[in-house]
Amino acid sequence: MTTAAAESAITFVDGDNGILEYRGYPIEQLTKRSTYLEVAYLLLHGELPTTDQADKWVQEITYHTFIHENMRKRFLEGFHYDAHPMGILVSAIAALSTYYPDAKNIFDPEVRHKQIIRLIAKMPTLAAAAHRYSVGMPFVYPDNSHDFPSNFLSMVLKTPESRFEANPALVRAMDALFILHADHEQNCSTAALRVVASSQVDPYSACAAACAALYGPLHGGANEAVIRMLTEIGTLENVPGFIRSVKEGHGRLQGFGHRVYKNYDPRAKIIRDIAYEVFEVTGKNPLLDIALGLEEVALADEYFVSRKLYPNVDFYSGLIYQAMGFPVEMFPVLFAVPRVAGWVAHWVEMLEHNTKIARPRQLYVGHRRRDYVPMSSR
Ligand code: CMC
Repeated sequence: MTTAAAESAITFVDGDNGILEYRGYPIEQLTKRSTYLEVAYLLLHGELPTTDQADKWVQEITYHTFIHENMRKRFLEGFHYDAHPMGILVSAIAALSTYYPDAKNIFDPEVRHKQIIRLIAKMPTLAAAAHRYSVGMPFVYPDNSHDFPSNFLSMVLKTPESRFEANPALVRAMDALFILHADHEQNCSTAALRVVASSQVDPYSACAAACAALYGPLHGGANEAVIRMLTEIGTLENVPGFIRSVKEGHGRLQGFGHRVYKNYDPRAKIIRDIAYEVFEVTGKNPLLDIALGLEEVALADEYFVSRKLYPNVDFYSGLIYQAMGFPVEMFPVLFAVPRVAGWVAHWVEMLEHNTKIARPRQLYVGHRRRDYVPMSSR
């Protein structure tokens, strides 16, 4: 917590003032004016693409969305019928390394580029496949005539209709949520990626490790925890009692607090606005009023104010995902799909600037040398 683990030029966070910038561009402008694929390019290359660069990039991603048929039929179908989609996703990313053995040539820029394209392109396909399998629905193949977010929504939501057309407002919301989750400097999963990748393993294995870190309730699992918390609270009248129990040490206010932000998380503000746009289409999520009530009470309470605990990115995102029809188990998966752009950007940056294996020091506080005692004498 007191030592910078890396030098990085990708994402700037000023936690005290609630500022988030990708390569210098404010997150507020990117979510309004850019697309996830353009942002992924920006994170990786450091600059926004020209028209030609953007066309080539989108074309490459679009034509790498398919997964090996064997992976769909044999690997995915090997999971238990009620497997958590995030568990499936973590394993599926790791399995990709067995399909692309060339990936281990990590110092060849062309090979590296190919894996980056594959990872960004296949994440939505794997995520949607994990979801469809866990709810017993047939796999939907990628449709290259869709843009990136529409293709994802089609693979997740399509029923027997021949072509699925998501509502444009929902497509835009999905893309904005992808942008907001694309990177967040040295967060837990990116730190995991850097540690694992520093052993010079292939990027699929390193991203699987990062994805596993994102599975945890303190990281990517927090929005799932928010929905469970709001459901448990049930009504607005129960809000003060719930806040009291948190202050007495019974659990945490999920979706509140952040290691870096000691101010309102700028992502939470944007997501709260997106929520209203989505609810115009889907109808209001009834849990919204409880969330707003909790925020109001917490932000006026000395316990939360003195500890600088504000809503974070996860406080409102789950409400949107739920209104869009995603089950809570999919929430960390929805976080992982775009975060892969950040992981690979950090991977490349690390390989180009520091190839030392991660090996933190420790402060040893245990016994020093002592003699073995036979069990009969203990
Ligand atoms: N509810 C109630 N009290 C809290 C909360 C909370 N959500 N978060 C922190 N505190 C209290 C904590 O009890 C401690 O109090 P005290 O000083 O009296 O012991 C103080 O605030 C500092 O907490 P901490 O655990 O030392 O802070 P941290 O920086 O280690 O933890 C956190 C950051 C995000 C893990 C934590 O705030 C938390 O558990 N929040 C709820 C889970 C959550 O929303 N996670 C999503 C994080 S954002 C998305 C992401 O990056 O993945």
